Amino acid sequence: MLSTNVLFNLIFLLMGISQNSCQAETCSSGWFGPACQYQCHCAGSAPCDKVDGSCSSGCHHDWFGPACQYALVSVRSEPWDAWLTDSDDATCSSGKSTSVTVTLDTPVPLSWLRLVVNHTDYLNSTYVNYLTVGDSLTHGHETRRCPNAYSAKVDNLILDIDCATTDLVQSVTLEGSGLLGMCSLYISGGRNVALRESTSQSSKYNGEGGHKFWTSDLAVDGRIDIPNDTEFQSRTCTHTAVGSPGSWTLVFSKPVYVTSFLIFNRRHGKW
Ligand SMILES: *[C@@H]1O[C@H](CO)[C@@H](O)[C@H](O)[C@H]1NC(C)=O
Ligand SMILES: *[C@@H]1O[C@H](CO)[C@@H](O)[C@H](O)[C@H]1NC(C)=O
Ligand SMILES: *[C@@H]1O[C@H](CO)[C@@H](O)[C@H](O)[C@H]1NC(C)=O
Repeated sequence: MLSTNVLFNLIFLLMGISQNSCQAETCSSGWFGPACQYQCHCAGSAPCDKVDGSCSSGCHHDWFGPACQYALVSVRSEPWDAWLTDSDDATCSSGKSTSVTVTLDTPVPLSWLRLVVNHTDYLNSTYVNYLTVGDSLTHGHETRRCPNAYSAKVDNLILDIDCATTDLVQSVTLEGSGLLGMCSLYISGGRNVALRESTSQSSKYNGEGGHKFWTSDLAVDGRIDIPNDTEFQSRTCTHTAVGSPGSWTLVFSKPVYVTSFLIFNRRHGKW
């Protein structure tokens, strides 16, 4: 027999869901999620789904993964292996080679990678090795293997491999017979965990000319297309008062692992 408690819980659950989707509808253009804290990254700057961030036209070429939230590490690839790094899962290996290497434009620590193949049998016969940037004082370059044991099938053709490194990685090599049916390699550069989090700063600049914004939250507003014009910069950049040592603080709403910091300064326009 269905107790009244169960019935009440059910009603609460449904209310929760419908409230969430109402809230999500109110996100401003380019944002999604329950707290409107995620930025859309669709191809051609198309709008994303306000609830789950999905893009009907696919991800912008700098992004991939769930809801296009992961920055794609940029790699150098020879013309002959363009099928591997063109972010097009429909172009695949022509079946000539069982080893291919891509070089990272800028060495970074790895976190996770995504492999896409055109037949499911290829997923478990591809191995991912990486070459670390050598420390000239203590040891040279080292080749290590990603622990394929920590991996998750997204579907029959897509495998996500956890491959967290502390070392900077210079290149990634795929090996094995699975490479004969390989279509894409995506290397994650992580996601921006600072967006719209709680911030504060020691003081606020009150420049001449009525540029009165410069508040701490503007450093995590997701805007990096910084205009030259000071009036507009004051609406998307932070600035503490001149002359006093400044500090800026961010408090995460939940604990996260931070692997890198990207800081964008104002362009030198007038100042
Ligand atoms: C995978 O793609 C390659 C290159 O387009 C093609 O030669 C091969 O037949 C495809 N394999 C399968 C199982 O679709
Ligand atoms: C990969 O897995 C498939 C089943 O999912 C299996 O038939 C095949 O033998 C496996 N290949 C290797 C190399 O382990
Ligand atoms: C801003 O100024 C720099 C250097 O003066 C110039 O290269 C750049 O194109 C300008 N950008 C915009 C958006 O006006």
